[in-house]
Amino acid sequence: MHPVENFAPRVLAWFDEHGRKSLPWQDDKSPYRVWISEIMLQQTQVTTVIPYYHKFMSSFPNVEALADAEQDEVLAHWSGLGYYARARNMHKAAKMLVDEFDSEFPQSVEGVCELPGIGRSTAAAILSISRDVQAAILDGNVKRVLARFHAVPVWPGEKKTENAMWELAEQYMPSERCGDYTQAMMDLGATLCTRSKPQCLLCPLESDCQGRLTQDPTQFPIRKPKKAAKPEKSIQLLVLMNQQSQLLLEKRPQTGIWGGLWSLPELASEESIVLHIEQRFATQVKTVTALLSFRHTFSHYHLDISPSRIQMQDTNLVMEGGKYQWFSLEQALQLGLPAPVRSILDSAK
Ligand code: ADE
Repeated sequence: MHPVENFAPRVLAWFDEHGRKSLPWQDDKSPYRVWISEIMLQQTQVTTVIPYYHKFMSSFPNVEALADAEQDEVLAHWSGLGYYARARNMHKAAKMLVDEFDSEFPQSVEGVCELPGIGRSTAAAILSISRDVQAAILDGNVKRVLARFHAVPVWPGEKKTENAMWELAEQYMPSERCGDYTQAMMDLGATLCTRSKPQCLLCPLESDCQGRLTQDPTQFPIRKPKKAAKPEKSIQLLVLMNQQSQLLLEKRPQTGIWGGLWSLPELASEESIVLHIEQRFATQVKTVTALLSFRHTFSHYHLDISPSRIQMQDTNLVMEGGKYQWFSLEQALQLGLPAPVRSILDSAK
C-alpha cells in the first residue's frame, strides 16, 4: 500500500466546502468539551447526541464540575443514551484529571489513553480536534475510507491489517490543520463513503480510489459475517406502589447492564409476583395490574419486558442498605433510569 500524495489537501478542500462546522462541540473546542462529545458520539447518532450534549454542558461546564458531581447526577444526564459504562468511565476519568493531572488534559495520545474509557482513536480525535495535535484517528468511518481507497480486504478485528491501517492513517495525517483533517475524515466516511451506497462521484479521492476501480467499493472492508440471531430473555419489572403513591426503585450494581442506574425491581418471568413480594418484603399485596409488555433490544440480546403495577397494603418496608428507595413519580423521572424503565414510568403518569 503506497500512500498517495495530496491525500490530505484534497480531503481538506472538500471539508472546507462540505464538512460539518456548526455542531455544538465545534464552537469552543476545549479538550473537555471535545472529550465529552466524542464519548457521547461513540455508538450514538449526532442528532440524538445534540440535546444531551447541551444539557450535560450546562450542568457540568468543566472538568471540575463533572468530578464534583454525584454518580447519580451524571447517570441521570445519560439516561436514555445507553452504554452506561461510557458515563461511569467518564466520571471516573474526570476525578482522575482533577486529582492527579491538576485538571489539565494530558498532551500525548499515550497520556490520554490512561484515562478510563478512552482508546487510541478517541484520544487522537480529542487531541487533534482540540489542540491540533498531529495524531491520527482510526474509527469505523476512517477505516472504511482507507480500506476502500487502497482496496484492502480488512477483516474486522484482524491485527495485521489493523496495524497496516493505522500506519496509513498516520501517514496521511497532515502536519497542519490536524483537527480539521480529523473532522473531515469522519465527515467523508459518514456522508459520502457510506457503508452501502457510497457517493463516489462527489468524492475528492475518487480519481485515485482503488476500491472504485474494482466496480464495487462496498466490498471493502470485508463485512462482519452475519451474527447468529440474538438470544432472547424475558423478565418482569415491578412498579410497586405504597399507600402514599410512591414507587420502589432498586439501585443496580455497578457492573452489568444498566450499571449504577436506578431500576424497577426485577423478577424472573416465571415467578409469581404475589408470592415473591410477600416473601421478599413481608407485606400484603392489594392489587396487581399487568401493563403492556414490550421488547427492548440491546447490542447483544433482546429483552422481553412484562411490567406490572402492584399496589401494596402498607408502606413501612425495611429496605436493605440504601439499595431500595421510595420515590414519588416526579422524583423518579429525574433519576438516571434505563430507557425502558423511563417509558414504563412515563406511561404510569
Ligand atoms: N462521531 C464521532 N466523532 C464525531 C465528530 N467529531 N463529529 C461527527 N460525528 C462524530
